[in-house]
Amino acid sequence: MKVTVVGAGAVGATCADNIARKKLCDELVIVDIKEGFAEGKAMDLMQTAQLEGFDTKITGSTNDYTKTAGSTVAVITSGIPRKPGMTREELIGINAGIVKTVTKNILQYSPDCIIIVISNPMDTMTYLALKQSGLPKERIIGMGGMLDSARFRYFLSTAMKCSPNDLQAIVVGGHGDTTMIPLTRLATYSGIPAAHFLETEALKKVAADTMVGGATLTGLLGTSAWYAPGAAGAALVESIVRDQKKIMPCCVYLDGEYGQKDICIGVPVIIGKNGWEKIVDYKLNEEEMAAFAKSADAVRSMNSVLSTLDI
Ligand code: LAC
Repeated sequence: MKVTVVGAGAVGATCADNIARKKLCDELVIVDIKEGFAEGKAMDLMQTAQLEGFDTKITGSTNDYTKTAGSTVAVITSGIPRKPGMTREELIGINAGIVKTVTKNILQYSPDCIIIVISNPMDTMTYLALKQSGLPKERIIGMGGMLDSARFRYFLSTAMKCSPNDLQAIVVGGHGDTTMIPLTRLATYSGIPAAHFLETEALKKVAADTMVGGATLTGLLGTSAWYAPGAAGAALVESIVRDQKKIMPCCVYLDGEYGQKDICIGVPVIIGKNGWEKIVDYKLNEEEMAAFAKSADAVRSMNSVLSTLDI
């Protein structure tokens, strides 16, 4: 089993690190456009093999996609990250061209692979990869909801003083500071609604902190985050290669589900060996559906920028 990670920056390298430590494949290829960079990251990671106890063979490649041939899954992390004060949407001009080229290169050597998109603006990049590749919709998955939901659980766990592992909580909608929708009504602490433990105001604060979770980190770090985005990418790879059939909130193509068509946006899906295998209907109430429709409008307007770009 071979997995490719494109982009050896902080998110790509962290994703590769997690994939190796979880022993998800025998071969892991990291590709980057910067001369020698992926080779360096691969060598550094290989030098952790004995320390971490994995046997995955990690190789780096400077833009040579022949090395990625026959990959089961490819994770696209390439593109520029946001700087403090920037929105994810501002990256579209540069990242769209990169994601388009990378998708084409991957599929040239791994026509059967499942593609995970992490590059921002993630919903639009997922849509672009789908349209560009013509792949069956099940094989293109945007990672954003996994990351946003992990952040949601983190903020909930701090407010509730409990382990994030005991919490079930998901974020749907777009992966943007104003478009994501943390579903507080459906959040539970081992099956008991979170509203049983937290006042409405506290829950609202958790949701608000979640929505700007990425921006908060960008402000602190001077660039966008990488540990949680990389780990979220690897968790998706795991559910695919181990056919775990986990329910994960991911950005996928909707064809009428959740009241939307011709858009890639975050909804709960079952992830297994075929990619996303089923969209799960969480039976959103009227208010949540209205928020979802508003989020979809914002994502759609970002998607419309694609046709104005010279890519
Ligand atoms: C974040 C970026 C990766 O939310 O979108 O940290």
